[in-house]
Amino acid sequence: MANDKDRGAVTEARKFQAVPGVRDIPPPESALWNRVEQIARDVLATYGFEDIRLPIFEQTELFARSVGTSTDIVGKEMYSFPDRDETSISLRPEATASVVRAYIEHGMHTRPGDVKLYYMGPMFRRERPQKGRYRQFYQIGAEVLGQSDHPGIDADVIEMVLVFIERCGLPAGRPGSPGHTLYINSIGCKECRPKYVELLRAALVNAKDKLGPDSQRRIETNPLRVLDSKLEAEQAVIEDLPRIADHLCEACREHFKMLQAMLSMRKIAYEVNWRLVRGLDYYMRTTFEITAPGLGAQNAVCGGGRYDGLVELLGGPPTKGIGFALGTDRLILALQEAGKGGAAKALDVYVAWMGPNAYPVAVRVARTLRDAGFSVELPHEEMKFKKALGLAARLEARYAVILGDNEVAAGTVTVKRMADGKQETIPENALTQHLTRVSG
Ligand code: HAM
Repeated sequence: MANDKDRGAVTEARKFQAVPGVRDIPPPESALWNRVEQIARDVLATYGFEDIRLPIFEQTELFARSVGTSTDIVGKEMYSFPDRDETSISLRPEATASVVRAYIEHGMHTRPGDVKLYYMGPMFRRERPQKGRYRQFYQIGAEVLGQSDHPGIDADVIEMVLVFIERCGLPAGRPGSPGHTLYINSIGCKECRPKYVELLRAALVNAKDKLGPDSQRRIETNPLRVLDSKLEAEQAVIEDLPRIADHLCEACREHFKMLQAMLSMRKIAYEVNWRLVRGLDYYMRTTFEITAPGLGAQNAVCGGGRYDGLVELLGGPPTKGIGFALGTDRLILALQEAGKGGAAKALDVYVAWMGPNAYPVAVRVARTLRDAGFSVELPHEEMKFKKALGLAARLEARYAVILGDNEVAAGTVTVKRMADGKQETIPENALTQHLTRVSG
């Protein structure tokens, strides 16, 4: 028991709140999260993906090398700190780098066929918090690593995300109309992209005084990112810039053409967006994004692309790679906006008991029903039936099992259907079967 001094300390204690950009996901919303994650596991399994559990932090150098030092993610947004041995550690801002590290560390290239891995969990970026943008956010992501860069793999990965999103209840739309929309692009390879970037840089230098300070800085550091700009004043300049599609090498042009054929073969609607360059350095060729309505400025629910060469860059054997990550927070928001945010209430049975001999029977009944898979709420303080049934209604229980002196003496239970109040008294040992039948 707390003494008076302790109690004083409690009243004076400050109220803690989650830090900005970080939040709890309490019930009932957590039920929707569980449903979404379960659908993801089911869909990913049908495409042959296996779960990989990854660390939450890694050496900072891993992200610097893969995501790139000139990106906002590494340059401005990582939570990095020196470990006690002075190694620089970072909370993961994304997980593709970790998957590739794990692939190399476990020699997974010796496994037969493509290595297909998925992960889900929190990522950390110190961005300015707003609707759909958090500092701890969640991703469901998947990666395919192997020897083939066939565009059919890209199309299958995209198909899989769309199947998942649709199974969650978000309808497909067309650009400009409600529903989610797929945008694709090719950003070339190490043969053709550097030449294009130089062309772009030269064009940006010419238009420098029409650009804001961020874009001006990016002319040197990362000119492709200028294409991402949402600044109204820069849009006219950007529309006149050279477009990568006109500067792809033969192999990249063919790959992009085939990707589009592969999507059409799967009857997947898409829009080519030449400005889709993505904010991570490891991409080459295919990039894609899926946007959903109702999310405001942060409307990308999913981003992904091809990263052939990343495994080598991190010290592994030559390997092709493609993957995506879906922002779970944003998908949940989009589902809620679309009115698909409801999760079925989990409580099947409330056990209302009264009288000195009823509690042991209530304990037994609760255990029997739970063993049969029903969710059961068992009060431990004795209550008048009126109060207990009122609570059962507020908890949205589907059934109340009523146990009073009469029932206990007769070895029966009374089952009340909460929706319409219909009651039946049945032998206790017939209860599980009865509920299975009526609630099935
Ligand atoms: P990303 O585009 O940086 O790609 O992130 C993927 C998705 O994560 C975004 O489309 C968005 O839905 C969500 N997301 C990103 N930042 C936030 C935030 N601050 N708050 C809420 N949601 C956010 C990647 O992370 C790559 N690793 C994807 C990938 C996998 N590419 C190939 N394989």
